[in-house]
Amino acid sequence: MSDSVELHLGSERFSYPILTGTENERAVDIAKLRDETGLITLDLAYKNTGATKSAITFIDGDLGILRYRGYPIEQLAEHSTFMEVSYLLLYGELPSAVQLEQFNQSIIRRTLVHENIKKFLDAYPGGTHPMGVLMSTIASLSSFYPNSLIPNRSVEDVDRTIHRLIAKMATIAAWTYKKAIGHPYMYPNNKYDYVSNFLMMMFGHRTEEYVPDPVVVDALNKLLILHADHEQNCSTSTVRIVGSSHANIYASVAAGIGALWGPLHGGANQAVIEMLEAIKEDGGDAQKYIAKAKDKNDPFRLMGFGHRVYKNFDPRAKIIKVACDQVLNRLGINDPILDIAKQLEETALSDEYFVERKLYPNVDFYSGIIYRAIGIPTDMFTVMFALGRLPGWISQWKEMRESNEPIGRPRQLYIGHPEREYIPVGKRKG
Ligand code: CMC
Repeated sequence: MSDSVELHLGSERFSYPILTGTENERAVDIAKLRDETGLITLDLAYKNTGATKSAITFIDGDLGILRYRGYPIEQLAEHSTFMEVSYLLLYGELPSAVQLEQFNQSIIRRTLVHENIKKFLDAYPGGTHPMGVLMSTIASLSSFYPNSLIPNRSVEDVDRTIHRLIAKMATIAAWTYKKAIGHPYMYPNNKYDYVSNFLMMMFGHRTEEYVPDPVVVDALNKLLILHADHEQNCSTSTVRIVGSSHANIYASVAAGIGALWGPLHGGANQAVIEMLEAIKEDGGDAQKYIAKAKDKNDPFRLMGFGHRVYKNFDPRAKIIKVACDQVLNRLGINDPILDIAKQLEETALSDEYFVERKLYPNVDFYSGIIYRAIGIPTDMFTVMFALGRLPGWISQWKEMRESNEPIGRPRQLYIGHPEREYIPVGKRKG
């Protein structure tokens, strides 16, 4: 196969090299295109544009493959923990037992947040969406750790900030929930592992010892692992582009949280449950909602269906569907919206519209049902996604800074007015 692409522009010929990735993915390197030809490429929503070279996560959307640092997601979800996967994403290799213990300890002893953070949380009005609270509180951590504002710090210093952010994110996420329900904040306790500590801060009470349910801890570890990275998605690209200006890591991750919030991205998990609830209220007729999703005059979309990259199946959804059945069984919960979800999936998968467009359930389709089963309220679902995606965002930020990527700055095709003369307000017509 050819190792370059030739562009014919009038009578001129330009050649651009083809680069091949580890998994034989191929890309045309157009770095010299504009200098040589004056042309830019136009690719709305970056559907065909590789923005970086990355060694973190591999996805094959046609084959339904997802691997972190080469390890299949199925194996990690089955055997690993969220902390171990976080280490893997951040440092590129699975940790030894000693390295994992040191990493766990380094995180767990940084979970306490400054007391003033409680004052911010208290100041938000009731009913505030927790994603807004999470986003602003994470950005504000830079005020408590001004060192983080220095762009070129030592590896140890950056590592400390990374561990601090992973640690405090769990505390802040749990506190947004405590704030929402008006309960006292639960302080982190170093005797718990990361996931149990989070659950304790969410569901514990000051008057009694919190004993984590191993079924719930296991389910949450799985969910967080499945969300931990997904290469250059909307929020991760946001984190990388904000970080490329050498903005501090808290600001970069806060921007990622903002991007994740939207219902076409992480916000879909909340939207799925709201949709399933609405279908249940409306009599549970899956067919009616499939018809609405297909109707081009109706803005309704089947939330939790479709993916920019996966065009066969989303491997995360496969694992979550099984986990969903297991968790509900083991907790003895019978959730009627699980039946509606399965009915919707079955109907959609045999419907020409969905088959033709290769629309399959994505990670968000069943995750909300598990979150609900373990007691997490609907508007906290996207916060859970953010908690899971955090090590991915940070790993991508770290990779981008370590490889000294230049500031991200796309071009555009201008389609506005040509030059025109300014007319003072009194002299304008109309
Ligand atoms: N329901 C009905 N039709 C759909 C859906 C859906 N959920 N998703 C895509 N389509 C149709 C779309 O109308 C279009 O049809 P046509 O070719 O006739 O115009 C075709 O399928 C291609 O869709 P697209 O919008 O061009 O695809 P995209 O790659 O730009 O969007 C997506 C991907 C995930 C934003 C979209 O599938 C969607 O809106 N899904 C629902 C929201 C959702 O579940 N998001 C979570 C994604 S997974 C978690 C994450 O990583 O964020």
